[in-house]
Amino acid sequence: MNFITAIDRFAKNAAMTDFVPCDALTLTSLRGRNTLGVMNVSDTPSIAFLGTGSMSGAILAGLVQQREKFGSLSATTRSEESAAKIASDGVEAVALAAEPDANRRLAAAADVVVLGVKPYQIVELLREISDALRSGTIVVSVAAGITTAVMEAEVGDDIAVVRVMPNTPSHVGLGVAGIAAGTGAGEGAVDVTRTIFGAVGTALVIDESQIDALSSISGSGPAYVFLFIEQWTRVALELGFDERQAAAMVQGTFRGASELLAASDVDPAELRRRVTSPKGTTEQALAVLQGAGLDAVFREAADAAIARAKELAAE
Ligand SMILES: NC(=O)c1ccc[n+]([C@@H]2O[C@H](COP(=O)([O-])OP(=O)(O)OC[C@H]3O[C@@H](n4cnc5c(N)ncnc54)[C@H](OP(=O)(O)O)[C@@H]3O)[C@@H](O)[C@H]2O)c1
Repeated sequence: MNFITAIDRFAKNAAMTDFVPCDALTLTSLRGRNTLGVMNVSDTPSIAFLGTGSMSGAILAGLVQQREKFGSLSATTRSEESAAKIASDGVEAVALAAEPDANRRLAAAADVVVLGVKPYQIVELLREISDALRSGTIVVSVAAGITTAVMEAEVGDDIAVVRVMPNTPSHVGLGVAGIAAGTGAGEGAVDVTRTIFGAVGTALVIDESQIDALSSISGSGPAYVFLFIEQWTRVALELGFDERQAAAMVQGTFRGASELLAASDVDPAELRRRVTSPKGTTEQALAVLQGAGLDAVFREAADAAIARAKELAAE
């Protein structure tokens, strides 16, 4: 298959992704350009996950569900126990304990290499694999706080580097991921990455300068939601409900409200107004919440997360 057919086929695959409408024009406009991260990528890219734990294991599981969109899938872990957990039909899972050179072997055979180790291991891992990577390989990192500039310094100019901040609802196919291209990553590399993360939720392409801000909303966001659920569950228990009843009320309400919003064509403020009759009970409760200065508290929380991300990046 020639390169242009491959790009068109990939654009079609990407446009079929449920959550992420892919801009096929972006891909077709790459015809004839020697855009980094596209030239060697086939219509069904082969993907190697190096370090496949909680986060990248969830992404890999999503790709397995959409097997037809991807070429060979492979993954490394440190221990054989972890490799056994991710091995499945069509996934070559290799433990470094059994094959110490596995990171290099799998990276050399992949169109896309996803780095899923801890942030402090990223540079070391790139040094281990850099001379094994084929020209045009896309290297994607999900590590918090490691910039594309730091990664680009470890690989050749012919490698496209992309940074992604995913979140834990990726485990159930409802993740939100922010994708930021390095200086050498073209639109093709970004589109391939968008298709990979679109397999487990919504993928947003952003500038890297915004990645800490995105992380303060969607990266940390699941923790904020769990905190609200914990707090409202506590209140329900104090009001005399048992644990099963409290969980049903609170979790059912969070899920139901989210689904209602997703199915609705109006914004959340309008949906809130529809629950809030003038002089009614909800109005009284909301007045207490708003009186506690939630606007400022939410902003302060996001700012604290962003400040910490900057500190971590400087370490
Ligand atoms: N978890 C999250 O919510 C989240 C969200 C956004 C971003 N991230 C990012 O995702 C990355 C991984 O986090 P995680 O929570 O998924 O960690 P994790 O569950 O500990 O996974 C790390 C994986 O790397 C493997 N590993 C360790 N050293 C390796 C090496 N040299 N070569 C190949 N594999 C190696 C481990 O194998 P063993 O299991 O055998 O030790 C494990 O499978 C981090 O950089 C983090 O910043 C995580």
